[in-house]
Amino acid sequence: MSNITFTMIKPDAVQDGHIGAILNQITEAGFKIKAMKLTQLTVDDAKKFYEIHAERPFYMELVEFMSSGPIVAAILEKDNAVEDFRKLIGATNPAEAAEGTIRQKFARSIGENAVHGSDSDENAKIEADFHFAGREVF
Ligand code: CMP
Repeated sequence: MSNITFTMIKPDAVQDGHIGAILNQITEAGFKIKAMKLTQLTVDDAKKFYEIHAERPFYMELVEFMSSGPIVAAILEKDNAVEDFRKLIGATNPAEAAEGTIRQKFARSIGENAVHGSDSDENAKIEADFHFAGREVF
């Protein structure tokens, strides 16, 4: 069990003015911010980040959306980080997300679902390394 996960506050939630509320919910839940930045993915960055979904019908829609505006990328630390963070954000589809979860409160739709959370310890490390250089992690 690793104690690190990676998150992005996605373009919809940044555009809708939810950065502060989402970060507050994350830190109130006991996650420590190890790295964080406001940035924007290029189309190529988004294609690479979501390569695992390349065969899915929504891939290009996902790539276009994720590169459409600024995001907040962050590395978070907590015991059992990956699993606890996925509980905090709720189901991929906000219509199915539990009451009080970040996606239930802030997401627009299954595609524009406010936040990303790593799905495994292995992917948390890969995703963190994709976005941050060693000197940006504390
Ligand atoms: P996330 O779990 O961060 O990473 C994969 C993303 O694909 C997921 O969030 C959704 O935003 C997106 N996604 C999953 N299913 C669909 C779908 N049916 N239509 C559009 N986007 C989707």
